Amino acid sequence: MHTEHTPENGKITAGAHVSFWTDSVPAIRFQPLRQNLQTDVVIVGGGISGVMTAYCLSQAGKRVALVEDGYIGSGETGRTTAHLANALDDRFYELERIFGENISKLAGQSHGSAIDFIEQTVRDEQIDCDFRRLPGYLFPHPSDDEKNIEKEFGAALRAGLPVEKTDHIPGLLVQPGAPGLVFHNQAQFHPLKYLRGMCDAIIRLGGQIYTETRASEIGGSGIVTADGIKVLADFVVVATNAPVTSRFLLPMKQFPFRTYAIGALVEKGRLSQALWWDTGDRDADSDNPPYHYVRTESYNETHDLLICGGEDHPTGLADAGNLPEEKRYDLLAAWARQYFPIGDVVYRWSGQVMEPADSLGYIGHSPGITPDNVFLVSGDSGHGMTHGTIAGMLLTDLITDKENPWEKMYSPSRFNFIGKGAAWIKEWLTGFVQYLTHNPSDKDASKLAALRKDEGTIVKIHGDTYGAYRDGHNRLHLVSAKCTHMGCTVKWNNDEKTWDCPCHGGRYTFTGEVLNGPPNRPLDYHRESDPDFFKHK
Ligand code: FES
Repeated sequence: MHTEHTPENGKITAGAHVSFWTDSVPAIRFQPLRQNLQTDVVIVGGGISGVMTAYCLSQAGKRVALVEDGYIGSGETGRTTAHLANALDDRFYELERIFGENISKLAGQSHGSAIDFIEQTVRDEQIDCDFRRLPGYLFPHPSDDEKNIEKEFGAALRAGLPVEKTDHIPGLLVQPGAPGLVFHNQAQFHPLKYLRGMCDAIIRLGGQIYTETRASEIGGSGIVTADGIKVLADFVVVATNAPVTSRFLLPMKQFPFRTYAIGALVEKGRLSQALWWDTGDRDADSDNPPYHYVRTESYNETHDLLICGGEDHPTGLADAGNLPEEKRYDLLAAWARQYFPIGDVVYRWSGQVMEPADSLGYIGHSPGITPDNVFLVSGDSGHGMTHGTIAGMLLTDLITDKENPWEKMYSPSRFNFIGKGAAWIKEWLTGFVQYLTHNPSDKDASKLAALRKDEGTIVKIHGDTYGAYRDGHNRLHLVSAKCTHMGCTVKWNNDEKTWDCPCHGGRYTFTGEVLNGPPNRPLDYHRESDPDFFKHK
């Protein structure tokens, strides 16, 4: 059974729940940075994007220093389900519609190359991370039109994917009743075991890695840490999931979503090794049908884990669907039981996905910063493991002045709203209007006494708005409720015990530390034990 870490332990993971990945390996930590240094490239962020970029640049002969405010993989990389797929979930027929056949093909190729690259590094660096090639099955949700599978088959073939139609989806208790697709040559791995091996390789290649080191200032000449230590560099890479350097442009063209995962026991060997996806529930949302994604992982001598994800919603706006964050796991488990022979659910966790308006990620020069030596990676669109690997390869080419056919396609400066943008905005706006209607509540300070253990709420104290959380020991924690990115009022996430911002997905611990960009400054934090707080207010 898994460990529950305390919410203040944001260095290990970005929330109260601990994923199977985080729970099954020791934390990957290095010394914090304690002295000024000079290097070729400084990389901010120790998830897969930052680590792959550090590895590829080290291979190319660059001196790199990577800084991470938590531990390696403590952000979204530790909260993925680690599918390695070039069967893109935005659908190839959609990519063709938005970008045309050539870009659709290039997008598929880039993710395929990322899987090949991971496979090669696993071999070269001898990383024991449970990497395996396997097939991926896409099957139609009962609410979906059969023609969509046919459309996807044609578009995926044109994109060059090894795909076939199939009447039988192995592993399912109930067949979908209409043909599905099998994508060959997909893969999976244990993301934190992989990062551990990659970090060892970076160090061997002469790179430097520092954890518990927050970059509080980032610019063209390098970074300054929260402790005032400087890293001077010729190039800067911001790999913080939602970039903290593009305050305005990028947050306007990508949308943050929470996604949920459970790990349920399944008899060892009962299921074949595969990835599974359904096409999404169009009755629930015809524009962005929420879909499920499934894989297995070895757990113990007698059982495997079935890891099932889905039940997404715009960050901070779960209530708009009348289904609070913590209830989403029950729906996941109910769906999984319909299709797979699972027993007890032994893990649950959530993660954050940045959905770009036109479906493709952002990798390249950080817009609006001159000189153009600052780069970013964001907008993983639910394919974080391959997207982060593409970032490593592409950014290395950009920094070493090599041509790369993916440069234009992933440029963060492009603006293309004909894709899913309208649908994302519609979903986000619906939730946001409800949020504005019902939140923030204007409970005053006197209501704080009624706040139960392990609950949070928004309160007004003498005209100022605060987030209040009462922990399991009955201690009250107050933060300023104004997001430090652009001032929206944050929303309590009772599942992960975090303050989430519905505007652009910024997230904070209950003590106000930043867990997710775009904000890069903490919320003001007030302890209950500060006797002057209420008096001064
Ligand atoms: Fe932009 Fe909060 S994340 S205002």
